[in-house]
Amino acid sequence: MIRLPQALLGLLLIVSTACGLGPQTQMRQNPALPGWHSDPSCVFVPERDNTTFCASSTFLLTPGIPIYASKDLSNWRLASHALSRESQYPDFKLSLAQTDGIWAPTLRYNRGTFYVNVVYKNNVLDKVTGLIFNTTDPFSDDSWNAPVQYKPVSIDPDLFWDDDGQAYMATAGTNLQTLDVTSGSLGEATRIWNGSTGNFLEGPHLYKKDGFYYLLTAEGGSGLNHSVTMARSENIWGPYQSYENNPVLTNRGSSEYFQNIGHADLFHDANGNWWSCALTWRSGPDGQIYPMGREMALTPVIWKENEWPSFAPVRGVQKGWYLPPSHNITGDGPFAGDPDVVDFESNSTIPRNFAFWRWPNKNSYAISPPGHPATLQLTPSSATITAGYKNYSAGYDGREFTLIMRRQSDTLFQYSVDVSFEPTAQNEEVGVTVFLNQVQNINLGLVMLPRNDTNGTHSPLALHFRFLASGIQSNAKKVPAPFVVPVPTSWLHHPIRLMIRAESETHYSFFAAASSRPWDYLRLGKAPATIVSGGAGPFTGSLVGVYATNNNGKGSTKSYISRWRYSGLAQEVGNRDLISSHGSELDFRRNLIGVH
Ligand SMILES: *[C@@H]1O[C@H](CO)[C@@H](O)[C@H](O)[C@H]1NC(C)=O
Ligand SMILES: *[C@@H]1O[C@H](CO)[C@@H](O)[C@H](O)[C@H]1NC(C)=O
Ligand SMILES: *[C@@H]1O[C@H](CO)[C@@H](O)[C@H](O)[C@H]1NC(C)=O
Ligand SMILES: *[C@@H]1O[C@H](CO)[C@@H](O)[C@H](O)[C@H]1NC(C)=O
Ligand SMILES: *[C@@H]1O[C@H](CO)[C@@H](O)[C@H](O)[C@H]1NC(C)=O
Ligand SMILES: *[C@@H]1O[C@H](CO)[C@@H](O)[C@H](O)[C@H]1NC(C)=O
Ligand SMILES: *[C@@H]1O[C@H](CO)[C@@H](O)[C@H](O)[C@H]1NC(C)=O
Ligand SMILES: *[C@@H]1O[C@H](CO)[C@@H](O)[C@H](O)[C@H]1NC(C)=O
Ligand SMILES: *[C@@H]1O[C@H](CO)[C@@H](O)[C@H](O)[C@H]1NC(C)=O
Repeated sequence: MIRLPQALLGLLLIVSTACGLGPQTQMRQNPALPGWHSDPSCVFVPERDNTTFCASSTFLLTPGIPIYASKDLSNWRLASHALSRESQYPDFKLSLAQTDGIWAPTLRYNRGTFYVNVVYKNNVLDKVTGLIFNTTDPFSDDSWNAPVQYKPVSIDPDLFWDDDGQAYMATAGTNLQTLDVTSGSLGEATRIWNGSTGNFLEGPHLYKKDGFYYLLTAEGGSGLNHSVTMARSENIWGPYQSYENNPVLTNRGSSEYFQNIGHADLFHDANGNWWSCALTWRSGPDGQIYPMGREMALTPVIWKENEWPSFAPVRGVQKGWYLPPSHNITGDGPFAGDPDVVDFESNSTIPRNFAFWRWPNKNSYAISPPGHPATLQLTPSSATITAGYKNYSAGYDGREFTLIMRRQSDTLFQYSVDVSFEPTAQNEEVGVTVFLNQVQNINLGLVMLPRNDTNGTHSPLALHFRFLASGIQSNAKKVPAPFVVPVPTSWLHHPIRLMIRAESETHYSFFAAASSRPWDYLRLGKAPATIVSGGAGPFTGSLVGVYATNNNGKGSTKSYISRWRYSGLAQEVGNRDLISSHGSELDFRRNLIGVH
């Protein structure tokens, strides 16, 4: 087991020509954007202070399509969300299945404007709509437009401008057509490439370099066979010549921890050095445990004039091009990897990295309401977070639920909140969750239930802990049995700290304590990460957060969440190799309960 503090990585600036990457390289860590960031697309914009911007898919998560900005490709600030208002695309609310929603954006910049070309996909209604978002200010949620809509021939729309200003869109398959980004009008689609294998041609991107049109695509399907291939042509409509050394990038058939490398994009930095971003699973070759789902990896590329590009294979710690460290990025969003230290102070707003499954009912979340300073007030929904789905393609019945989350962005982490909750009706519940989707989640709730230690038909109600995991049961994904435990009477009527800890790469553990005595905790349940890996959530990744529900009962008691904390402890960067998340020498396996 390697235990290399991250700070050390920064010091490992290596002047090297040995691997062809020279002269100035540095050790870098993957995933570059840890936690769920599927289908990444990046663009370098010299006109905006030499900043690189990346976007990723969000499916049902809102706000949707995060835009990150970085000058050193290590420190990524959350700049905005292209989809931040329900009114931008009202049909989003028709989403049913757990994999409906926003699929695979392409982020590009042209003549002062940023564009996100993406599809909304509804698997149950069999509806696919193309959406072109634009803005001149990628640091402002509000400045993103209500997207121009069009009817695409397939998913994964690209966006490319030729030198004459004409815009083109390639889509999965690979089809090409002209596109007017201001109206959404399309030219006729032409099949330009059938791929090197013909299997699952997805995520196409076009680039023009040295007189060639280069087409980059994913092949093999997004899973253990995922790969990146290329073809090129001197004419945009083809014929495209397949590169003889395809695939240009893959980890398939290897024992690498980083698997499912594909759905890539290419860009260069201020020094003219090339990079590729790609999605990856941190799963190892078994492909069983990857609760963070699809994350964004970066790898350096050498692309000489008239030649095909050469990609370095994706590793957890690898050499990349040197760029001077910079946190000097506009905006007030957190940097990826920042811990959450959120106290819901009066006049604060919901942090920008917090997220909801579908659009939230805004009335269910209030910061520091009268009489409850430094809390987040939750109004319970009648639906539970698991209720409403019939099967995983049928999705859900449209009832909203109260649930607010952030991405799991570290292999090992600790998350906790303090909960003030005085329920009166049976089945009122507030809890913490590891949530992949409505089918797969692991929950520790505080719930009002009849006491079992008394007799008679009218047992009094009392506050209990309830541990309840939901999943798609199989031998490999064993869902632990639910249980209930009464809350110790001395803890009642004071805030209770609920905690989730990934203390190993394979399991989550749940704890509770009186928040005044956090060291005196109860261990309340453990569940394997396999149940929040894949299944009905093959394209997404896990989140952690809090929910409030009356479990379809009569209660309406509000709860008050305070002291929201998330801290990364360690990142797994190779099979069983862990690196401390924050560069400290702390032993990340030591008992941190109540300390952070
Ligand atoms: C962008 O990078 C180039 C190459 O390093 C440099 O010449 C230029 O001054 C930079 N621009 C800004 C605004 O920093
Ligand atoms: C941005 O989108 C709006 C529609 O929301 C469109 O009218 C406008 O022309 C687009 N701007 C650019 C520069 O493409
Ligand atoms: C792709 O395959 C189809 C079906 O085999 C064929 O008709 C078409 O000509 C091929 N297109 C290209 C660009 O190779
Ligand atoms: C990967 O490809 C091989 C060979 O085509 C096939 O047998 C296997 O089922 C594929 N695996 C996955 C996970 O798609
Ligand atoms: C930060 O970036 C701005 C441009 O966005 C630049 O004007 C300023 O000098 C930079 N500050 C530092 C400390 O580099
Ligand atoms: C919140 O903002 C309002 C309006 O700016 C101000 O009057 C009030 O004092 C602020 N409250 C706190 C607790 O900062
Ligand atoms: C799941 O839902 C889909 C869509 O409504 C339906 O076609 C399918 O038959 C359902 N499957 C099961 C096992 O109920
Ligand atoms: C009470 O006992 C029943 C039967 O054993 C069990 O199903 C239920 O979960 C228990 N409830 C509580 C609150 O302990
Ligand atoms: C409840 O009452 C029944 C019948 O009076 C008795 O058999 C049982 O032991 C009692 N249980 C408890 C937990 O007191």
